Amino acid sequence: MQRTTKNDLIIRIGGEGGEGVISVGDFITQACARAGLDVYTFKTFPAEIKGGYAMYQVRASTEQLYNQGDTFDVLCAFNGEAYNMNLPRLRPGTTVVYDSPGDFTPDIPYGVYAYPIPMTHTAKGMNNPRAKNMVAMGAMSVLFNIPVEALREVIATKFARRGEDVIQGNLAAFERGRELAAALDKTDPWTIGTPKAKRDVVVMSGNNAIGLGALIAGLDFFAAYPITPATEIAIYVAKHLPKRGGTLIQAEDEIAAISQVVGASYAGKKAMTSTSGPGLSLMSEMLGMAVMSELPCVIVDVQRGGPSTGLPTKHEQSDLFLAVHGSHGDAGRIVLSVESIRDCINLTVVAFNLAEKYQCPVLLLSDGSLAFSTQNVPYPNPDNYTVVERKRWNGEGEYRRYAQTEDGISPMADPGTPGGMHIATGLEHNEAGLPSYTSVNHEAMLSKRFRKLNGVVNDVDPVEVDAVESAGTAQRADLADMGVIAWGSTIGVVREALQRLRAEGYRVKGFYPKLLHPLPVQQFEAFGASCRRLLLPEVNFQGQLAHFVRAETSLRPESYTICGGMPFTPEMIVSKVKERVREIMA
Ligand code: COA
Repeated sequence: MQRTTKNDLIIRIGGEGGEGVISVGDFITQACARAGLDVYTFKTFPAEIKGGYAMYQVRASTEQLYNQGDTFDVLCAFNGEAYNMNLPRLRPGTTVVYDSPGDFTPDIPYGVYAYPIPMTHTAKGMNNPRAKNMVAMGAMSVLFNIPVEALREVIATKFARRGEDVIQGNLAAFERGRELAAALDKTDPWTIGTPKAKRDVVVMSGNNAIGLGALIAGLDFFAAYPITPATEIAIYVAKHLPKRGGTLIQAEDEIAAISQVVGASYAGKKAMTSTSGPGLSLMSEMLGMAVMSELPCVIVDVQRGGPSTGLPTKHEQSDLFLAVHGSHGDAGRIVLSVESIRDCINLTVVAFNLAEKYQCPVLLLSDGSLAFSTQNVPYPNPDNYTVVERKRWNGEGEYRRYAQTEDGISPMADPGTPGGMHIATGLEHNEAGLPSYTSVNHEAMLSKRFRKLNGVVNDVDPVEVDAVESAGTAQRADLADMGVIAWGSTIGVVREALQRLRAEGYRVKGFYPKLLHPLPVQQFEAFGASCRRLLLPEVNFQGQLAHFVRAETSLRPESYTICGGMPFTPEMIVSKVKERVREIMA
C-alpha cells in the first residue's frame, strides 16, 4: 500500500505503570519537537507507583496544535489491559501495535490495521527486560516514520544519568525494534507529517511552565507541600530558585506553606505556593489573612477530581467556587486561569504583577490535563516581560500602612525601613494597622480592599474573543449563531472545534476569559449581545463558571458539563454546537 503522510497524527501508548509507557511518550514528543513538528501530549496514570493502567498520547502535526485531539490513529498496547481499555476506540482505519507473544491475544476488529511485535520476548532475550518499551518505540519509528536520529539523541540524553551501559542497552533494543518492524509488510497508510523546518523551541509541561513564569516574574520565596498534580512545580522551582539566591521550603503541610508565603511577603519578598484542591481547602484561613493584611502572594491551584482526595491524577475544572469564595468573611482576591503551556508562563508573570500591584492573593488555576501535558513553545526571553514591583513607601511623613487612598492601594514599607514599622494582622485594623473594630472603620476598610480590585480588569487582557468575520445571511454581520464560552484548558479544545465548524460554514464565535474574578462583566455582556445562543462547556458537575455568569451578568449560557476525569474533545463540542444550531434553524 502507498504511504500517505498524515499531517496530524495521534499515537497513544498504553501499558502498566512501571513499564516505561511515560518514557516512550516523552521520547517521541521530544524527538518530534526537535525535528520541527508541533506537539501536544496528554497522559494519565494511576495513583500507584507500580501497576495500573498508564497512558500517554502524543499528537504531532505540521500545523499549530491547541489540544490533545479527539482520539488516536495509532495505539501501542504493552499489555492486554491497555488493549481492552482502548478497544472501543479501535475503529476502521486505526492501527494497533501490540506485544505478541504477550499476556493477551487480540481479536482485531474489522478494518483495523495490526502489527504484532515481540516486545517483552525481545527485551528478555537481550537480557534487558526494562527495554521492552524501547523495542516498541523502535518498531513505531519505522512504521510511522518518527524522526529516528532525534529519537536516538533523546535516548542518549535521557538515560545519560544512568550510565553508558543503560544507554547502549536501550539503543540496542531500539534498533532491534526497528529491524522487527522493517521485516513486516506495512499495510496501514499512515506516516507522520514531514516537519516544515527545525525551530528553536522548548518542550515543557504546564507545571514546569508555571515554575518558569514565576522565575521570570522575580520569585524570591516558594513554599509548598507535595500534592499531585502540582508537585512538579515545586520540583522545577527547587532546581532553579536557589541558584538565584531565592529560598524554597518543603513545608509540613499546606497551612504551613501558605503561612510561610504570607510571612515572606510581609518581609518584602515575591512569594508563591502551589497546591491542588485539598491543599487549597486547607489554605483558606491564611488566604483570608493575606486579604486582610493586604499582602501580595500567588497561589497556584492545579485542579484535580474532587471533592476530598477524589481522583488525584485525573482532570477536572471544579475548584472555581473555592478559588473565588473560599474563605470566611468578605475576602476579595483575583482569580486567573491558564489555557495553554504558553499561558502558564505568561499568566504566572501576570499573576505576580497583579498580586504586587493590588496587594492581595492571586489564585492561578491550572488543571490536571494541562499540568502533565507538554507542548513545544518558543523559549521565552525574560527581557520581553514587564515585571511590576509593589508600591513602596517613600519615607516621607508619618507612615500609615493602610492609608485610605483613592484607588485603595497603600504604599508598603519593608520591615526595617526607618519609620515604617507597622503591624500586619488578621484583625480588622485602622489606617495605622492597629486593631479597630468600629463599624465605621470596618466598612471603610472593606470598601478599601474591594475598591482596589476595580482596576484589575484594565491591567490584564481579561478575555480573548475568537471571531472570524464572515459574510452571511444573519441579521447583523457579526451575529453568530452560537457563541462558546470556555475557560482553562477547555479553551484549546474549543478553538479547534470552532475552526472545524467554520470550515463547514457555521457562524460561531469563542469567548475565552482568563480573568475569572472579578468577572469581566462588560466583556461578557458585549460578547453575549453578538451571539444568538451561548454554550459554556466545563469539566465539573455544577457548571461553576456558568453559575457565576448567570449570577453576575444578564447572560443565560447553556451549561455543558462533563466530569469523567478526562478533558473534552473537539468532536464533543462540534457535535453539541451542531445539535443546538439545528434547533435554532428548525
Ligand atoms: N531502561 C531503564 N529505565 C527505564 C526504561 C528503560 N528502558 N524505561 C523507563 N525507565 C525508567 C524511567 O526513567 C523512570 O525512572 P525514574 O522514575 O527514575 O525517572 C521509571 O523507569 C518509570 O518509567 P516511566 O516511563 O517514567 O513511567 P511508567 O510509564 O512506567 O509509569 C508511573 C510509572 C509514572 C505511572 C508511576 O511511577 C507514578 O509515578 N505514578 C503516579 C504516582 C502518583 O503521583 N500518585 C499520586 C498519589 S496522590
